[in-house]
Amino acid sequence: MKILVIGNGGRESALAWKFLRSERVKPLLCIPGNGGTASLENCINVSLRMDDFEGIRRFAEVQGVALTVVGPEVPLAQGIVDYFLEAKLPIFGPTQRGAQIEASKSWAKELMAEAGIPTASWQLCPDRESALSYLRKSNFPIVIKQDGLAAGKGVTIAANLAEAVDTIERLFTQNSEQRIVIEEFITGEEVSVIAVTDGETIRPLIAAQDHKRLGEGDTGPNTGGMGAYAPAPIMTTSLQERVQKTILAPTLAQLKARGITYCGFLYAGLMITPQGDPYVIEFNCRLGDPEAQVILPLLETPLESLLLACQAGSLGQFPPLVWRSGSCATVVLASEGYPVNPITDRVITGLENVPADVLLFHGGTRRKNEQLLTSGGRVMSVTAVGDDLPAALAKVYDAIDRIQFEGMYYRRDIGWRALTDRQGQP
Ligand code: AMP
Ligand code: GLY
Repeated sequence: MKILVIGNGGRESALAWKFLRSERVKPLLCIPGNGGTASLENCINVSLRMDDFEGIRRFAEVQGVALTVVGPEVPLAQGIVDYFLEAKLPIFGPTQRGAQIEASKSWAKELMAEAGIPTASWQLCPDRESALSYLRKSNFPIVIKQDGLAAGKGVTIAANLAEAVDTIERLFTQNSEQRIVIEEFITGEEVSVIAVTDGETIRPLIAAQDHKRLGEGDTGPNTGGMGAYAPAPIMTTSLQERVQKTILAPTLAQLKARGITYCGFLYAGLMITPQGDPYVIEFNCRLGDPEAQVILPLLETPLESLLLACQAGSLGQFPPLVWRSGSCATVVLASEGYPVNPITDRVITGLENVPADVLLFHGGTRRKNEQLLTSGGRVMSVTAVGDDLPAALAKVYDAIDRIQFEGMYYRRDIGWRALTDRQGQP
């Protein structure tokens, strides 16, 4: 059967790789894919633009694609799923209305309030004056978020009133029509719980933790994620049950109450407070990047069977998911200048020296003649499974020592939190 993956990052490389583990998936089609997917056996990159919904739909129809899976949030928020559903073509991902859960912070916050889901207290500020007057009454630090999609760059944590006022001024100078959400700062440890749902049943995948900050010790600017690992030691069975009961199930019920049949991945970015209580920091309408790179290698269940069951509305009858034992870790190799101004077109060498059990999920690469070049900030996620997290990380860092490109940057401390946690101790 033919499966079509939309996207061109490390997450989509991991999706393509995982689909191709099933013998019945052949070929795997990628729109547009990248230099890594181009070199996977039985994987074909198709050069259509991700916003060419008409072209993509026609392609899927003519090819007789059994399932289209959408990786990134932008086409989902722009309604690619509605477009497919109108033509009765099978697709996995939420409709434009469902994707609001990521595309509008205030929409998601209202939904959480209706469903009584634990989240930071918040205020929607439609203009500069309301934002400034709310800040004058607030405690610090405080979190300021752009309401719409901002490619992971829409969040500022302001330490005091002066910083908060500067942020508001900057945001409204950039765009005076801006809507801002200001919310309470919650302390704790972050964990990503990504679930699959058919709109009736919701099942979590294994929990993962990513490192969003650029610098070691989780410092510096936010990025799309510099590395990740799964399972997350903080997610105990009892916490998982609580997340299911107080977050995932009520979110799905509230989506239904709004008339939305949400079929797709639902990503809950959680903060676990020092008291052990889970709060929702954000929802995303897709798999995480780099979380996908560590979740999918641990999943033994064929992905196409799981997602086809969701698409058919029969997730409730699907057998329990099967996971490999051990841990998976990934470290993102980034370009010089990432995340602000990545320098690209640098030649990547040494990949042939990487052991076969290390997975290289390309994110920003392209092939030119016989060379592999960097083509974006997040060049590749170097990934390995091991008996435990230290073993997985050792394989990853050993592989990274064999890879070169000019200006290559990566964090050397991925997994530090799990390695120093009580449960994660080596
Ligand atoms: P988001 O784009 O909403 O995931 O936010 C980016 C990052 O900002 C999160 O991963 C958190 O580290 C941090 N963050 C967002 N909201 C809060 C909050 N209410 N309290 C503490 N940290 C937050
Ligand atoms: N890793 C964070 C995200 O995908 O949004």
